[in-house]
Amino acid sequence: MKLTFKPNEHVGCCGATQSGKTTFAKKVLVNSWNRVLIADTKGVDFHDYPTVGWKRAIDAIVRADRDRGNHTKNKFRWRLPFGVGKKAEVEVDEFSKAVLSRIPNVTVYFDELGAYTTSYRISHGLSALATQGAGKGRRLYWSSQRPARVHGDIWDNTVNLFVFAQHPKDKQAIRRNFPAYEEFQGQIEFGTYRFAYQDPAGKVTIGGPV
Ligand SMILES: Nc1ncnc2c1ncn2[C@@H]1O[C@H](COP(=O)(O)OP(=O)(O)OP(=O)(O)O)[C@@H](O)[C@H]1O
Ligand SMILES: [Mg+2]
Repeated sequence: MKLTFKPNEHVGCCGATQSGKTTFAKKVLVNSWNRVLIADTKGVDFHDYPTVGWKRAIDAIVRADRDRGNHTKNKFRWRLPFGVGKKAEVEVDEFSKAVLSRIPNVTVYFDELGAYTTSYRISHGLSALATQGAGKGRRLYWSSQRPARVHGDIWDNTVNLFVFAQHPKDKQAIRRNFPAYEEFQGQIEFGTYRFAYQDPAGKVTIGGPV
């Protein structure tokens, strides 16, 4: 399956714990992009990428983009060790605003978006990245175990959706954003590491394991 996304298209990935989201992110998507910042929540899965504090990362990219004159030549795939908790939420808010205002053509990957937002609460920065980022070439790629807890600002702007095996209690949230889910859920059972992909036109493809 060939997966190509326009820079102005956000990407989301849902699936129960251990369904294969992180493996898919690492094997397929993250390495297909040249400018990627990985907001690492758990601190276990992304140690094979260089770790850079977010402020240093922003400054280094701005400087290198400027020095090279053409930002597409300046490539990076870095792990940003945000962690979880109130302090991390504030940092992610500030980071998101900095990406939106200073870093062109980038993908920001949140390995567990639920660490920084809920269905009823989202920071201004994260909301701005979701609602304005795509139009400005900042792609948001997010994964979550709990689609029912993903904020509407995120859902409304996510046009590529991957769904791995899903917990029954989250099926309602999936159905709302992926109308054909019911029809395909039997093909993406837990342990198969398969996924259903809904593209921006609403077309569904079954893929995996990767
Ligand atoms: N395509 C695959 N083929 C074989 N094994 C896989 C595949 N995808 C994932 N796995 C295995 O399944 C386990 C869980 O995968 P992964 O960590 O990607 O899940 P996850 O959805 O990110 O889970 P969590 O929500 O807990 O972070 C890992 O041990 C991984 O090696
Ligand atoms: Mg994971």
